Amino acid sequence: MTDHAEGAVELLPVPGLPEFRPGDDLTAAIAEAAPWLRDGDVLVVTSKIVSKVEGQLVPAPDDPAEREARRRELVVSESVRVLARVKNTLITQNRLGIVQAASGVDNSNVSQAEIALLPLDPDASALKLRTELRERLGVDVAVVITDTMGRAWRVGQTDAAIGASGLPVVRSYAGEVDGQGNELVVTEVAIADEIAAAGDLVKGKLGAVPVAVVRGLSLTDNGSTARDLNRPVEEDLFRLGTNESIAQGRREAVLLRRSVRSFSGEPVDEDVLRRAIGVGLTAPAPHHTHPVRFVWVRDRARRTKLLEAMRDQWRADLRNDGWDEARIERRIARGDLLWGATELVLPFMVMDGAHDYPDPLRQAAERTMFTVAGGAAVQGLLVALAAEDLASCWVSSTIFCPDIVRAVLDLPADWSPLGAVAVGHPADGVAGPRPPAPTELGLVEL
Ligand SMILES: Cc1cc2nc3c(=O)[nH]c(=O)nc-3n(C[C@H](O)[C@H](O)[C@H](O)COP(=O)(O)O)c2cc1C
Repeated sequence: MTDHAEGAVELLPVPGLPEFRPGDDLTAAIAEAAPWLRDGDVLVVTSKIVSKVEGQLVPAPDDPAEREARRRELVVSESVRVLARVKNTLITQNRLGIVQAASGVDNSNVSQAEIALLPLDPDASALKLRTELRERLGVDVAVVITDTMGRAWRVGQTDAAIGASGLPVVRSYAGEVDGQGNELVVTEVAIADEIAAAGDLVKGKLGAVPVAVVRGLSLTDNGSTARDLNRPVEEDLFRLGTNESIAQGRREAVLLRRSVRSFSGEPVDEDVLRRAIGVGLTAPAPHHTHPVRFVWVRDRARRTKLLEAMRDQWRADLRNDGWDEARIERRIARGDLLWGATELVLPFMVMDGAHDYPDPLRQAAERTMFTVAGGAAVQGLLVALAAEDLASCWVSSTIFCPDIVRAVLDLPADWSPLGAVAVGHPADGVAGPRPPAPTELGLVEL
């Protein structure tokens, strides 16, 4: 096959076809209306007439609102998955694998008392028509069955092939070189769709001419069918609508967070970290207070001094607990993830704006309230980091040595450490969301 027609290509309408009903002989009607068909012609057939002769018509109620409701039910029942919902339109994948608006369910060019579904197997219908035309007229034609589809990013619809037989549906240029010496890597021309759209130029949309012939192409059948034009949804860069992608991202944001304890060392974008801290600072807090401070320990010398001082304190605590030196060193070695963090952020709770109570019980409750608000802010930070593809681990260590932390970092005496957050790019790549936990783990319904 050359990459273009060698001479002129003709588009020939096939007028004079009847209004089709279930059970009609489509091949006989076309053979009668187009006895002039020749070998090599491509017959372009509107799927609606195939649906009609194959009885793919569903009775529709008289009442317009009920008819619309019935149409919507059919859109859903004809679909295997919904990819996007835009106002009243569903973009679905139908059982044929085709992604299009409304599962191809359509009111146009059918009586008001009926709604048309797509043919059950348009590739099989194309093959049948082709075979029967060969028997009846002795000609070898290719057949393309068409439906009208919208295109992402483009205004307007064109016809595309949903059934095909007798032609290569795609012409791949991969590895070929153009006139300027450039190798074509991704170019694949959807010939069957181009033929479908070309045929529509003489068929039109008002139903009088549902069949056309494209003549003058030189195509060699390779056994492909229109099904080969369906890109697997999983491989599509745009497999969800924008609204659906945003909704899924929102649903999964919290589930992306997990404790990651080793980091690649790739620098963390400062603006991204600041943005995530800003997200953490939006956490709910009691009586309009701001109970959290995130201290980003950027100065490496100070960070080392802090981690060394914390480690010394930890050693001293374990010695006090009666641990021997070897065991202490083993324990400390397991707790060194902060040393390997690309960035270190220390959350603190401050009781600015806290209410004063005369009794210790309510005083302690107020403190608990501020502490849990601090936890909410830290979780907000971790989730925001995960949503930016950054890994984190929230560890407890600073909570156990508050005086040392405050002393090394010159912080006020009433700042209470809430642990430390190690931040960085994950050493083992970004993991996807996990499923929600089983509710038995913590839901009590009374
Ligand atoms: C307050 C707090 C303190 C934690 N302290 C440590 C710690 O000292 N060392 C550590 O490796 N992980 C620490 N973690 C992380 C937990 O071990 C981790 O959340 C848990 O294993 C569940 O894993 P996930 O976060 O991936 O769901 C801490 C978590 C919280 C909330």
